Amino acid sequence: MKPEIDLAVIGGTGVYRLPGVQWQQSLSLETLYGEPSGAVRIALIGGKNVAFLARHGEGHALAPHRINYRANLQALKQAGASKVLAINTVGGITANYGPRVLAVPDQLIDYTWGRVSTLSEEVGSEVLHVDFTEPYSSQLRTALLSACNSAGTAVVNGGCYGATQGPRLETRAEIARLRQDGCDLVGMTGMPEAGLARELGLEYASLCVVANWAAGCDPDPHEITLAEVLSNVESVIDRLPPILANLLKC
Ligand code: HPA
Repeated sequence: MKPEIDLAVIGGTGVYRLPGVQWQQSLSLETLYGEPSGAVRIALIGGKNVAFLARHGEGHALAPHRINYRANLQALKQAGASKVLAINTVGGITANYGPRVLAVPDQLIDYTWGRVSTLSEEVGSEVLHVDFTEPYSSQLRTALLSACNSAGTAVVNGGCYGATQGPRLETRAEIARLRQDGCDLVGMTGMPEAGLARELGLEYASLCVVANWAAGCDPDPHEITLAEVLSNVESVIDRLPPILANLLKC
């Protein structure tokens, strides 16, 4: 029987599991929009059902522009989720968003292109013009911030996420432009995911894990490597379970 899901978590780069969590079920779901990035794993945490999906696939096989964001969100909805916590690995642009910082952004700017970014894609489907003034659910953001506080984990409240195309990292000039536009964080997967969640009627918030200074922002400039990104994510991943446990109590 399909369990009701109290919270769905989408894991980003370096987050392919939830530490200490044993999956109890694994759902291979087919959706109207095709196949998601992988199986939807289900676990019981503190008596609540949590679904988990690795956005890039469990072997990080999918580049950001190849992810079927529609299928991922639809699969979580089919599994019974109405709330989605997106974990996004990002670069930090402005001063408060250095490596290993956790942040809950409140705004975003979409610089991606060529991605299927709406449920209205197919000719003949309903044309949706959803309100996106506030791209993240204020209820879920508030709950997430209070879950971080109760867990004693420092978190930056707010910030603007710039979604870039990738998979390459940005140039110094591109980041200077993002900074001028008001972006604090840069990542490659925040859109179209947030927009699609709104179209699907899912409550959606993002917990950003800053993995590196974005191009040209490091006071001690050096080449940004995947090893640095993964090691910074790995060093904060243990902060996630208590945050989730608290969030599930909200
Ligand atoms: N830019 C874009 N996406 C990222 C970065 C970055 O510097 N770091 C981790 N994801």
